Amino acid sequence: MYLTKKEERVYDGEEGWAKQTCMRILVRLGELFKAEKLIPIDSAHVSGVSYKTLGDAPIDFLQALADSGAKASVKATLNPQSFDSEYLIKKIPVCARENQLQILKQFDRMGLESTLTCTPYYLDQPESCSHLAWAESSAVVYANSVLGACTNREGGPSALAAAIIGKTADYGMHRKENRRADVVVNVEEPLENEMEFGALGIYLGRILGDKIPMIRDLGNASETCMKQLSAALAATGMTNMFCTEHDKTKRARMEVINVSSKDIGGTVQNLSTMSTSRPDLVFTGCPHCSLNEIQEIAELSAGRKVKSGIECWICTSRYVKENSGDAVKKIEKTGARVLTDMCTIVSWTEKVGIRSIMTNSAKTAHYAPTLNKAETVLAPLKKCLETAFKG
Ligand code: F3S
Repeated sequence: MYLTKKEERVYDGEEGWAKQTCMRILVRLGELFKAEKLIPIDSAHVSGVSYKTLGDAPIDFLQALADSGAKASVKATLNPQSFDSEYLIKKIPVCARENQLQILKQFDRMGLESTLTCTPYYLDQPESCSHLAWAESSAVVYANSVLGACTNREGGPSALAAAIIGKTADYGMHRKENRRADVVVNVEEPLENEMEFGALGIYLGRILGDKIPMIRDLGNASETCMKQLSAALAATGMTNMFCTEHDKTKRARMEVINVSSKDIGGTVQNLSTMSTSRPDLVFTGCPHCSLNEIQEIAELSAGRKVKSGIECWICTSRYVKENSGDAVKKIEKTGARVLTDMCTIVSWTEKVGIRSIMTNSAKTAHYAPTLNKAETVLAPLKKCLETAFKG
């Protein structure tokens, strides 16, 4: 792999251990994927922030990097942590709280922004064709497919290394020749809501491996539907991008996959494992809600009250919450909670007695049985909210 003189000096440790370690991570990855060089990035987004998913092992490494003076050299943001600062923070063991805060402190010392959201594109939308090093898989698919930016699915350490060096290896989604569809997907019946787009993503992720689909007949899918599709596609597969039929970058001859309404219905059914009649938690906000979603939830919640015995959580970023005007107040008047910095999957829901979750997110329904030890029901937003209000 070609390195400039300056990159070579960093690689050889002339600018200290922290930068040398980060450069070696990037070069190792580049060599593995046969990259010819490093390219500059506009931003990095680091996952592996929640103490629940990260555990103790990486804390010493983060501290060593921060102690050695590592600093982000481009805009660098963080994925959600394991609790919000008002509600769940009071419900988890003190040692878990302290370890989580310790992780955030090290990122902060290195100059990463504590955005604590998986939708960094709502805070600062990347430009089309810009190069990024993002590690949140749902945001990676969304950035490549909907925003037209270029990012591989980084791991937490490689996104952090890219944030510090300000570069990433030039392979995969950064190369134009790799951003073309391999497979045509015909969706036989129009998809009706965001939940069905998520189910399509789960279904396709399982059969595509890392192939890029050109998905026909998405109609005028809303931004929320595209986000659900992106998150779910990344949850079950290694695909980092989908194309729509408007994209001109297809290959000459492609395999065709037909997806029927039976395939979508079967996927929804498989993701719905709940055996009790009502859920402990109704959850929306995976990926974190947009301003539009918060406003829609506020309208659907007007004058209603969450049924006693049910928790209702809406997860979003601080940025969206602070910019939602009266919508958050209206939602919270119902007894629902608008929580920031966290999500169900990366927090300890089982420690607060949640055994069953109803959600409109196919990604959450896919992960919650293993990561939260919870039964699930997948349903569209309106039905989720009706259940929260009626029980
Ligand atoms: Fe975001 Fe958590 Fe879902 S990080 S994509 S809300 S699993």
